[in-house]
Amino acid sequence: MNKIKTAILISGNGSNLQALIDAAAAADYPAQIALVISNKADAYGLTRAKNAGIPAHIISHKEYATRDAFDRALHAALTQAHIDIVCLAGFMRLLTPWFVEQWSGRMLNIHPSLLPAFKGAHAVRDALAAGASETGCTVHLVTPEVDSGPVILQAHVPILPGDTEETLAERIHKEEHRIYPEALKLLSKR
Ligand code: GAR
Repeated sequence: MNKIKTAILISGNGSNLQALIDAAAAADYPAQIALVISNKADAYGLTRAKNAGIPAHIISHKEYATRDAFDRALHAALTQAHIDIVCLAGFMRLLTPWFVEQWSGRMLNIHPSLLPAFKGAHAVRDALAAGASETGCTVHLVTPEVDSGPVILQAHVPILPGDTEETLAERIHKEEHRIYPEALKLLSKR
């Protein structure tokens, strides 16, 4: 089986990276996790990549004078590894329109809300603060406008009385780990 070469971009824990690694272990899964890139040297996801025997690079945004230079370094690493699809998984950097254009239709992001509700970096906190009765998560194609591209899959998560940001985030994560591998499978078969 000719597997789709996929890179996962992370900044932290990498639990979604782990879900993708685990799904991709199945013989009939259409994508292979070929590369992990973190913009942070202390991201736990780097350990997950190492444990799975996946090549991992640290490309620190602090070493680049401009956003554009950082994105060009990212793009160079991806093309050098012959990557077909990029998955953003808790990658907390805004990408330039140039970079997004290079990966148009081939880059996914996961976001902890039912987009278009609660865009931005504090989606779980914002859903709680708004008094919403439910939230969820979304996998979407990345377009230049943040958290706005075409939706591939969503999952609903109820907000329960007494929920804190931590308890709600934990339930959202469970759904993220289910839908991200499904969404990558769908894009890989397109
Ligand atoms: C995930 O919940 C993801 O939806 C969120 O970061 C978390 C990363 O967790 N992304 C965003 O908020 C993007 N705006 P992980 O590192 O354990 O996969």
